[in-house]
Amino acid sequence: MTDHPPPLLDQLASASLTDDGPCSSIKKAQFSDRVLIRDIVTRKDGGASLAGRHVRIGGWVKTGREQGRGTFAFLEINDGSCPANLQVIVDASVSDLSPLVSTGTCVSVEGLLKVPPEGTKQKIELRVEKVLHVGTVDPAKYPIPKTKLTLEFLRDVLHLRSRTNTISAVARIRNALAFATHSFFQEHGFLYVHTPIITTSDCEGAGEMFQVTTLINDAEKLEKDLIKNPPPSEADIEAAKLLVKETGEAVAQLKVNKASKADITASVAELTKAKENFSKLEERSKLKPGIPKKDGKIDYSQDFFARQAFLTVSGQLQVETYACALSSVYTFGPTFRAEHSHTSRHLAEFWMVEPELAFADIQDDMNCAEAYVKYMCQWLLDKCLDDMQFMAKNYDKGCIDRLNLVASTPFVRITYMEAVELLLDAVKGGKKFENKVEWGIDLASEHERYLTEVKFQKPVIVYNYPKDIKAFYMKVNDDKKTVAAMDILVPKVGELIGGSQREEQYEVLRERILEMGLPLEPYEWYLDLRRYGTVKHSGFGLGFERMILFATGIDNIRDVIPFPRYPGRADL
Ligand code: 4AD
Ligand code: MG
Repeated sequence: MTDHPPPLLDQLASASLTDDGPCSSIKKAQFSDRVLIRDIVTRKDGGASLAGRHVRIGGWVKTGREQGRGTFAFLEINDGSCPANLQVIVDASVSDLSPLVSTGTCVSVEGLLKVPPEGTKQKIELRVEKVLHVGTVDPAKYPIPKTKLTLEFLRDVLHLRSRTNTISAVARIRNALAFATHSFFQEHGFLYVHTPIITTSDCEGAGEMFQVTTLINDAEKLEKDLIKNPPPSEADIEAAKLLVKETGEAVAQLKVNKASKADITASVAELTKAKENFSKLEERSKLKPGIPKKDGKIDYSQDFFARQAFLTVSGQLQVETYACALSSVYTFGPTFRAEHSHTSRHLAEFWMVEPELAFADIQDDMNCAEAYVKYMCQWLLDKCLDDMQFMAKNYDKGCIDRLNLVASTPFVRITYMEAVELLLDAVKGGKKFENKVEWGIDLASEHERYLTEVKFQKPVIVYNYPKDIKAFYMKVNDDKKTVAAMDILVPKVGELIGGSQREEQYEVLRERILEMGLPLEPYEWYLDLRRYGTVKHSGFGLGFERMILFATGIDNIRDVIPFPRYPGRADL
């Protein structure tokens, strides 16, 4: 391997990508001595105009085969920069071929780009002149062979599934949506705020939190330590106590006898040592195995944070503190819910985008959410069309049309009351739902999907829900029965967004907390936002993985997050 690329590669590195004319140049990857396959094969002419160029590329073999009785090999190489592969041809005179052809092998090669013979589907191929690196694979042991593998099977090999076409396409779409998210909010004057992952307040008040504690590890450590160094016996403690008494008396005696200062100091030092030893033994004798308790309850004052703490279910409450000072803000981070839901729409760890807008009501909130979802759809059409085409071909024929439709059509907006009436009409018309429809129910997934997939066939915003089925922080409407909540329902997924105007009146909010049976103490700081300089404000949360499901048409949420966590599973 050469440390210094040959002069031609240097020349290429400094050239910038121009349009695909006969003298096309090609840009080099940043911080990596190679050219991205994307920059070769995704050009308008499929890379044909790059014929005659020398390049260095790296990637993993998708398929490989020896041809011409072992005189050369064809390799399809992918480096993750795009869904397409680059066809690479290696002559046996250049390298031993058999270590190159197994699926999964990593190669870095240098060579000449050439137009393949007429009749091949590739517009360009690479004739290898030098093999710089081979990371071999034993095909008998490789866990993800070339055969078509189900997404379910791939969940058992999380560490290697990113090598597959589907998971890498999802990764690029996910990345694009994250970029689109920041881009949308930054363009619209929102400030990105990092809210805590460890929290002491339950935002949704639903008690579905994972606890964060060191009490269990501490108890286990103590248990082991007590076995290794048993606690002192009664006799040990008595003996230590007696020593304190005796050394104390000796000091007193020396003082009475007017002994020398040096003798008295030495004796006092001994007394101090005896006292220290005694208190240490006494302390250790108090150690009890197990979780510390006080008045029959777990004593959290001995826990890491000196109180109970949890993983956050939503950054909303904390981000409100910034909205009530900086106006338009958003948080985008992982959230955790200990729901025992085994559905294809729930994860125990998922990412949520939560904007919060001061001086904004429920209408402003809906407008913002609709604009954001549309922006993401357009972003994918503009920047990820090749990955979307892969999804359309393999998972969901209609996914590109859906993005186009959502990007260009206004969302339907109906009240909860209207939604229930539409569902009741459907029932009258013969539609069967598993869950009964009546005013006051929390809409079930089947209801949501009927509205968005069957009735309207586009995103639907349902607002003004009954207050009893919604969280304590939502603004109570004048009817005192409903709250200014809104959910955005989309085809394929159901609920994509949940949001609301927040209750900004101190008295009403306090009442709502109590009404919901929640303790006031953990929410005092939240009430302060209403005690001091309260403001009308609104926000929402978008389930990031649900947005990816919606965009790609993939069926299970476990396949659109790199490392899914759900009941019974937290691999890696
Ligand atoms: O409707 P949710 O529970 O709303 C909140 O958490 C509010 N605090 C948001 C806010 O107003 N700032 O959750 C918001 C969204 C849902 O609409 C759904 O898309 C997603 O988060 N979500 C989940 N996604 C995957 N797995 C789960 N277990 C989810 N629970 C909610
Ligand atoms: Mg919700």
